This record gives sequence, C-alpha cells and structure tokens, in this order.
Amino acid sequence: MAQPKQMDPHVVDRVKLPFEYDADLMRAEYDAMGLHPYMFYSTIMLKLPHERKPEDQPSSSPYIMSLIEGFNLRTHVTLARILRLEPGAEVREHCDPMLGLDVPNSVVRLTIPIFGGEGVTFYLNDKPVPMAAGECWYLKLSDQHRIMHGGTEERVNLTIDMKPTQWVRDLIQDSYFEMQNAS
Ligand SMILES: [Fe+2]
Repeated sequence: MAQPKQMDPHVVDRVKLPFEYDADLMRAEYDAMGLHPYMFYSTIMLKLPHERKPEDQPSSSPYIMSLIEGFNLRTHVTLARILRLEPGAEVREHCDPMLGLDVPNSVVRLTIPIFGGEGVTFYLNDKPVPMAAGECWYLKLSDQHRIMHGGTEERVNLTIDMKPTQWVRDLIQDSYFEMQNAS
C-alpha cells in the first residue's frame, strides 16, 4: 500500500495558503488607525478581544480582527501585528530561530501583505517570495531572510503567529501539495 505523502518541514520554506483576503478593506482599516510617522520599521500589536482590558478602546478594525479571530478559533494565536517598512529600508539577513514548522516548541508566522509591495523584495534562502496583497503565506523564517524596499510607499503586512496544532500543520501540508500539483 502506498504511504501517505508527507511534506518535509525541514526543506519546504514557503507555502501559499488558500485564503484570499480583502486587501482594500484591510488598507481602509489600517488608514483609519491614524498611526504616527516612523523611520525605517514599525510594529503595531493587535489585541484579540480576550486580551483587551475593560479600559481599552474597542478595535476599529473589525475585518482584520475577524480574520485573526478566525485562526484563533482553530489554534492559539500568540501574537498578531502590523509590520510597517519605510521606502528605501533594508532588513538585513537574519534568522528567527523560533519561527519554523520544523523547530520543536516553535510558533508559526503567517504573513498577509496589505499594501505597498511594489518594489519590495522579500528574500527567503536568497530566493524572492512573490507575495501579493490579500494573500496568506507560511514562511519558514528560521531560515535566512532579508528584505529590500526599493519602492516609493511604505510596505504594510499583517503577521499572525500561532501554535502549530495539527490543523495548522495539515493546512500548510495540504496547501503545499496543492501548490505542487498546480505547478
Ligand atoms: Fe525576520
């Protein structure tokens, strides 16, 4: 009998997941946040409803929060952030040792570009990842990665970190084989 196929999480460094989010709506909610200017790089932490204190303002980003909550219903979301990168900025090559599916006790980071990807190249293992606004990607960030921002507007991504439960593992593996079959 044929063995079921398994994805090798040590080898696979990128998987596009079968989710398409409304990038225009995410951008409108981002604009409504009215965030302060920054230099180079800025991160905004998003609090899930159960993490908020009574005195916290209600979120003005219902769509973004609902998509984070969608993952939190299936696994435990440990961190959700908006990552802003200024035009001309470069994120030097580095590894995030706890952000790989193959790493024991790791979390997994999903990246959802919101806008500003034009002119930006995200290199993972020296190979560009062709991420587009509204898509959702698993990236094995325990491997070396760097970013070159050669565009003219800021680049804004949503990232969601979560425990790699079996649901998360199956999602990534099934999406990987779908990607393989499509190519
Ligand atoms: Fe990183």
